[in-house]
Amino acid sequence: MKKVVKIGSVGLGRLGYEHAKNIATSIPGAQLTAICDIDAQRVKDVAAEFDVAYTYTNFEEMCANPELDAIVIVSPSMFHADQIKIALDAGKHVFCDKPLDTTIAKCKVAEKAVEAHPDRVFMLGFMRRFDESYAEAKRRIAAGEIGKVVLVRSYTQDPRTTIEGTLKFAPHSGGQFLDMCVHDLDLIRWFTGSEVKKVWGLGGVFEFDLYRELNDADNAAATVQCDNGAMGFMFTNRTHGAGCNVETEIIGTKGTLRIANVGSRNLLQIIDGAGARSEYYPDFLSRWHQAYINEIAEFVACIRDGRKPEVTVYDGTAVSRAAYACKESFESGEMLSVSS
Ligand code: NAI
Repeated sequence: MKKVVKIGSVGLGRLGYEHAKNIATSIPGAQLTAICDIDAQRVKDVAAEFDVAYTYTNFEEMCANPELDAIVIVSPSMFHADQIKIALDAGKHVFCDKPLDTTIAKCKVAEKAVEAHPDRVFMLGFMRRFDESYAEAKRRIAAGEIGKVVLVRSYTQDPRTTIEGTLKFAPHSGGQFLDMCVHDLDLIRWFTGSEVKKVWGLGGVFEFDLYRELNDADNAAATVQCDNGAMGFMFTNRTHGAGCNVETEIIGTKGTLRIANVGSRNLLQIIDGAGARSEYYPDFLSRWHQAYINEIAEFVACIRDGRKPEVTVYDGTAVSRAAYACKESFESGEMLSVSS
C-alpha cells in the first residue's frame, strides 16, 4: 500500500485556509500534519478545527520536522522562493502557489533550488489547468479540433464584494500584472504552446488611489504576441459587479472554444422582476474550489507515484518574466520584447 503523504502547510490566509482545509478533508493519500503562520492565534484556531498534530509560527522549524514529507506554500508571494529553497534543502517535496516570487532574481533562486533536488517533486499552483473546462479545452486543442491557435483572450475579474481584502493584499501582491495576469499569461502559453515574445501593457487608476501610490493600475490590460505568431489579450480588475468573472476564448484556424463567457455558477436561470439572469460564483474560492483540490491531489499523486508534474518551476519564471514586461510596458507606454 502507498504511504500517506504528511503535509505541512504555511500561510493560513484567504487561500492558505482553503488549501489547509482541502488537505485535511478532501485529498486522497494526504494528511494535514502541520501548519505554520506568523499569526499564532490563527494557527491555534485552524489546528483545533482540523485536529492538526504540529503547529508553528516559524517556517524553518516546521521544515525541520522529520515526520513531514511535503510542504505546501501559501504565504505572501515575496517569501515563496526563500521558502521553496528552505523546504527542498530540508528534503521535502514542495507545492507553491503562484506567483513563483515577486522578482526574476528570486525566481532564479527557486529554479536553482529545484535543480539541486531532482529527486523531489516541485509543483507550482496554476490551478486553472486543473479546472475541468480548461483541461477539456486543452485536450481538444491537443487533438487538433480547432486547428492552429491564433488568439487567446482572457479576462480575470474579482468581484467588488471582496475589494476590502484585495486592497489590504495589494501592497505585497507584486502588482496587478504579476498577481492577476499570471493566470492568463500561463493560459496563453499553455494553449498556444509558445512563449510570450512581445507585450503591450495598458491600464489606469479609475477608482482606487492606492494603486497610484503603488505605481499600479486598478484596471489593467495587455496585448501580447507569442514566438509562433499567436496573439493574446488580457484584461483584469477587482470590481466586477456580478461576482468572480474569469472568461477565456481560444480562436483557432478551424474553430473557437469559449470557457465561461457568462460565468454562471450553475445552469439555474432566475426569472423575476429584474428580468432573467444566472448567478455568478461569488468569489475566486468558490469558482476554483474543485481546481484547488485537483491541483493538490495531482501534487500528492506525483509524490506517491514517483513522477513529476506538468507545471514546472520554469513555467513560473517564464510567466513572471512576461508579467514584469507587461508592467514595464504599462509604465513606459512602449510595446516591449520579453527578455530571456
Ligand atoms: P493573505 O494575505 O490572505 O494570507 C497570507 C497569510 O500568510 C496570512 O495569514 C499571514 O499571517 C501569513 N504570513 C505572512 N508572512 C508569513 C511568513 N513569513 N511565514 C508564515 N506565514 C506568513 O494572502 P492570500 O490571498 O492567501 O495569498 C497567499 C498566496 O497565495 C499569495 O502568493 C497569492 O498570490 C496566492 N494566491 C493564489 C490564488 C490562486 O488563485 N492561485 C488566489 C489567492 C492567492
